[in-house]
Amino acid sequence: MKNVSDLTEIEAAQELEYIAFEMAKADIAYYQHDDPYLTDAAYDALKLRNEQIEKRFPNLIRADSPSKKVGAPLKSDFKKITHKVPMLSLADIFSLDELKEFVASVERFLNTADNIEFTSEPKMDGLSFNARYEHGRLVSAATRGDGKTGEDITENLKTISGLPHTVQAPDFPDIIELRGEVYMSKADFFALNEKNAAMGKKTFANPRNAAAGSLRQLDANITKERRLSLLVYTWGEVSNIFWKTQQEFLQKVQQWGFPVNPYNKLCRNADDLIESFKVLEQTRADLPYDIDGIVYKVNSLALQNRLGFLTRTPRWAVAHKFEAEKAMTKLLNIRIQVGRTGALTPVADLEPINFGGVMVSHATLHNEDEIKRKDIRIGDYVIIQRAGDVIPQVLGVVTQKRTPDIIPFEFPKTCPECGAHAIREEDEAVRRCTGGLSCPAQAVERLKHFVSREAFNIEGLGAKIIEDFFAEHIICRPDDIFTLEERNGGDDLFSNAQGIHLETKEGWGPKSAQNLFASIRERKKISLPRFIYALGIRQVGTATALLIAKNYLNFTSFENAMRQKDTSKLLSIDGIGEAMAKDIVEFFAEPHNLNIISNLKRYITIEDFEDTTDYHSKIAGKTVVFTGTLETLTRSEAKAKAASLGAKVAGSVSAHTDFVVVGSDAGSKAKKAQELNIQMLTEQEFLDMIK
Ligand code: IVH
Repeated sequence: MKNVSDLTEIEAAQELEYIAFEMAKADIAYYQHDDPYLTDAAYDALKLRNEQIEKRFPNLIRADSPSKKVGAPLKSDFKKITHKVPMLSLADIFSLDELKEFVASVERFLNTADNIEFTSEPKMDGLSFNARYEHGRLVSAATRGDGKTGEDITENLKTISGLPHTVQAPDFPDIIELRGEVYMSKADFFALNEKNAAMGKKTFANPRNAAAGSLRQLDANITKERRLSLLVYTWGEVSNIFWKTQQEFLQKVQQWGFPVNPYNKLCRNADDLIESFKVLEQTRADLPYDIDGIVYKVNSLALQNRLGFLTRTPRWAVAHKFEAEKAMTKLLNIRIQVGRTGALTPVADLEPINFGGVMVSHATLHNEDEIKRKDIRIGDYVIIQRAGDVIPQVLGVVTQKRTPDIIPFEFPKTCPECGAHAIREEDEAVRRCTGGLSCPAQAVERLKHFVSREAFNIEGLGAKIIEDFFAEHIICRPDDIFTLEERNGGDDLFSNAQGIHLETKEGWGPKSAQNLFASIRERKKISLPRFIYALGIRQVGTATALLIAKNYLNFTSFENAMRQKDTSKLLSIDGIGEAMAKDIVEFFAEPHNLNIISNLKRYITIEDFEDTTDYHSKIAGKTVVFTGTLETLTRSEAKAKAASLGAKVAGSVSAHTDFVVVGSDAGSKAKKAQELNIQMLTEQEFLDMIK
């Protein structure tokens, strides 16, 4: 790439056009689809280049220049909220020299040589929100959007624990907008991706995308299921600002009960700032969440006011971004992992390389399309990056180092574990093995699922032991679990091999073996929903299993209907759609699965589902919505009670709602019920009604 100082005016204009186009495309992928394809570093590089060219050729600044916008235009599905005070962004700096220059520029502007106080705050890598409180009540919340208008995420934000819905402190301003960041911890991100992968759903590239994808859900119930967190770091409109410094503000919001970052620090001079940068850079990998830099702010509000703003960014604050750690290494292999549902996931095996003190030998490759798009081949030298991202990712290939013997990577069309066809449905990102339980990878993952807590929940038979037993052919299929005790001891009659002697295996003794047999015996009787869930049918989680159990009441009638591909009843169940029905029917069309089920039935009893629903209750068949905090019941208890009395519990108020049970701090749902003239009940009235 040419130096900016060497560009002709025509070249500069062309490049600005190219950057505007690329960044607009990247913005849409990032903000609207929560699915970026440029890394943060690549994006920042474009932004920086744009800035430099515009600085040299101010006459060429385009109307659609990336330097003039924050974020991307909004998707229309959400209601919009216009920010009373715009949500601006910060100028980025990347080095300690630039940090010193920032401090110097503040001093120059204020014409002082005195030390100026700053705060240093970790720059959370999530997405910013604005939460508006009126008279101590949370009334609305929005995303940043384009900085002027954001999306209405009131209901979504309310599901995040730690955010007070009401504040009673006497000094809490009548009107105050608190701003901060919604994020997902690394642990919750991993758990979510694991769960999604097992269900064959989309996985997220990093915690920030997972947070964005989880928060921007039209159905706030989905947001609630995801574990999001938030922190407050600034404010928008306020009726009465009485704090004099950023530090005081942070202390105040904490007193009011809002979470703030414990790593926020007061810095008395430039050296303190540098020190805090170094400390956080070191601590960063150990933090439970991703940060992508540090934000420095002039502490005094009086000085902030004097410094004021440039077009889009304050003069009194900057974001010091961490350099994304990059390294080059050789891609030794593209290994394909196979999950419980047969999803084939590519993993990069790398020549081990020291990455900021940690040896790295694997990186994610996401999926088939990603490998194709980046044309990544085995034997290539690749650039890997560990930025905010928890798992290193392969950025791309150093094509100059590619030798002629390196051939394009063909994503396997058969399962690497069992050889069965691996097919890819039209609308899916993943390719799947069709081998079912004859595929060892799927078999072992399914066994783990089979014994898991919400399925058979067999104590003493965890994932690790399943893996060992599978490798040693002790347990190969679910029914093997129930014949284990019988098979233990004697010699194997069908081969010359020795039988199983669990008590003499390493790590086992007579006591632990007996304990295991006892806990297996205990589980020979199983409830219908648990059994359906344990089968590990794609998309069938605990909630769906319960719905199926409720509607079919015994396993035989469910199995018979599925074997006859009769989905009429299934599709009439609220919550089960065509795609899920198709997966269920496919499961029962697979001879392996039928075989396992029939073997299992020889050893276990699947209890019929006892429908405890009281169809004579006053709320049977009615649609009920709960809102606000209840006094004597938890929300889940209330919902379970209503459901057991035959009511349908809905998450939002509509014309179909029959009652809304209103607790304290009820918000928009109560308002909506009023508007729609729907009967509202207090908690006591509800309890009386169901007595
Ligand atoms: S202050 C006028 N403080 O960084 C500036 N922002 O590039 C208001 N961010 O949109 C923002 N941590 O999403 C501020 N401690 C912090 C922050 C922070 C993360 C994000 C925020 C903002 C972006 C600016």
